Amino acid sequence: MDNRAIGVYDSGFGGLSVWQELCRRLPNESLLYLGDGKNCPYGGRSKQEITAFAFDAVERLVREGVKMVVVGCNTATTAAVSALRERWSDIPIVGLEPAVKPACLTTRSRRIAVLATEHSLRSDMFLDTARRYASDVEVVKVVGEGFVEIVERGLEDSPEGREAVRKVIEPLLGTGVDRLVLGCTHYPFLRHHIEALVEGYGIEVVDSGEAVARRVEWLLERYDIAAAKDNKPTYRFLTFADEEYRQRLEERAMAIKSRL
Ligand code: DGL
Repeated sequence: MDNRAIGVYDSGFGGLSVWQELCRRLPNESLLYLGDGKNCPYGGRSKQEITAFAFDAVERLVREGVKMVVVGCNTATTAAVSALRERWSDIPIVGLEPAVKPACLTTRSRRIAVLATEHSLRSDMFLDTARRYASDVEVVKVVGEGFVEIVERGLEDSPEGREAVRKVIEPLLGTGVDRLVLGCTHYPFLRHHIEALVEGYGIEVVDSGEAVARRVEWLLERYDIAAAKDNKPTYRFLTFADEEYRQRLEERAMAIKSRL
């Protein structure tokens, strides 16, 4: 038994979509969330920059005594997860696998779209996964232009949020795509707009939040570091930005939790 917290890290608010699935699936586990905030968005940055931010974040979480780190950010995973695992080989570090595999295995049209940040799409991780599971599937890559900024500002439900999503999603409609992979952890917060737009086009929207939570559960068992069944979990929030940002993270997380 190990009641230490699991660390969850993202460039900002996006990893809360992973945090939410961890809360749901592992209600006795304490979680320590670090939303960078100061350097967000990561999407247009270089691998070197993102790797440096990820090292600072994991260093901080490890200093706080976490037993495992979940990189709740596709961009930081594609840039840095191997280097992080090399540096901290004594604790499990879980990266975010985009849901390309289930999309490839279930698509009927053999055409899927992956929505992610510029950096993630450049990294070819999506294409490699697609090739591994279905070499005949065409992968259309789309950047969710402006999505991260909208979620960071808490504008998901605003007309601005809806309009940004419309601009990106509309060109995909009627193009034969039947699976839409959300390859950035900020994007599930815009899922309601995305689903409203694709309705009637036979497009299924998939993300990887739940799969990551299942993987974390499996690793806790495997390393024998799960919390006691009667553990009273704590939820703490850290940032490299200011106290106001930290408070917003905490408030958003608690609002999410109250709806679970
Ligand atoms: N939430 C992040 C991801 O999953 C990164 C967004 C950003 O900072 O650009 O890719």
